[in-house]
Amino acid sequence: MINVAILGYGTVGSGVYEVLTKNAESIKKKAGDEIRVKYILDIRDFSDAPNAHLFTKDFNVILNDPEVSIVAEVIGGIRPSYDFTKAALLAGKSVVTSNKELVANKGYELLKIAKEKGISYLFEASVGGGIPIIRPMHQCLAANEIEEITGILNGTTNYILTKMINERLSFDEVLKDAQKKGYAEANPDADVLGIDACRKIAILSSLAFSMQVSPDKIHTEGITGISLTDVEYAKATSSVIKLLGRSVLNSDGTVSAMVAPFIIASSNPLANVDDVFNAILVKGDSIGDVMFYGRGAGKLPTASAVVADIIDASKGRRDIFWGEVDYENVRDFNTYEHEFYVRTTDASVDMKATVYGIFGSVKRIVREDMPSGEYTFLTKSFTEAQMKENVEKLAAAGCCKVGSVIRVL
Ligand code: HSE
Repeated sequence: MINVAILGYGTVGSGVYEVLTKNAESIKKKAGDEIRVKYILDIRDFSDAPNAHLFTKDFNVILNDPEVSIVAEVIGGIRPSYDFTKAALLAGKSVVTSNKELVANKGYELLKIAKEKGISYLFEASVGGGIPIIRPMHQCLAANEIEEITGILNGTTNYILTKMINERLSFDEVLKDAQKKGYAEANPDADVLGIDACRKIAILSSLAFSMQVSPDKIHTEGITGISLTDVEYAKATSSVIKLLGRSVLNSDGTVSAMVAPFIIASSNPLANVDDVFNAILVKGDSIGDVMFYGRGAGKLPTASAVVADIIDASKGRRDIFWGEVDYENVRDFNTYEHEFYVRTTDASVDMKATVYGIFGSVKRIVREDMPSGEYTFLTKSFTEAQMKENVEKLAAAGCCKVGSVIRVL
């Protein structure tokens, strides 16, 4: 019998309990032993729940019980999750988690303790919800030098963008719906401002490039500046707008990583990833492009990844590891190069001459029923620093108002 404690009985925690209970028989066959939930830790009152006898508010009860060999930490956030995880690992208990904030920030330290203790620290559910990505990247792509990772890594924002585009619903309406469906973080700012996707690209980069890449060093933008007008212009060029996390290994060993909305051509496989689905495109030097696709958020998809880790931990899987954090390993964002989409309003008649004077030749784009005074264009490739300067010059020229600037993949 393998005894498990679940820390946190929110969306994911209750899903883990449900999956372990519902699929107990098949899980037993896969693990080679019965997996039993011995405790559930939550500070809230669940005395009316059918499984009320499992609840405790005291983490020490779990820590001091030698029968508990695996802890599923699904509380989220850094505190108290970090303290609980560290204590459990130091006590020789394997820990599995969906906590991307903790893995992205403290992964190296916690993996090191697990390695020293000969136990597991596994986090398949921390990226891509139910999509198998950590394990395949680590194991199946092990023969490759990974060169590039580009992904739709946040289900909530992808759901919002899809509904806004297809059903023309307002941002707030769709966000409420995403919260109801259990996709959004406790504080949905982490989703819409790109912070959640930043943690996930930090984890994938750490794993792919074998060094802890700090989320604090990754330039991050969310979707709050995206309007339906931008979506329509993108459509007019057979493209869509998606929030992407992107990380590229440079030849000097540094990483260029960022999270931001991008305009991507409809022919790109990521363009058709809609609703709560996530997709991660990985480029390896031997395999070329591989795409991982599936439900990126939600109770049961995420719980299924946590339970898979419980089964792996029960079998002693402990091969995942990466190197120490180096705050110099992320290249200065100002040097990244992209083509850009620029939408302006209140454009005057001499707009074209001004734009060409600043950006060189550009490609103007038009959309159906475009009001007069809108001048929207695609630029050639500029570094972030050059583009910032160009946009400042355009704003200062007084011939228009700059509405939005979006990178083109
Ligand atoms: N809030 C996250 C998302 C949950 O929407 O993707 C899964 O990590």
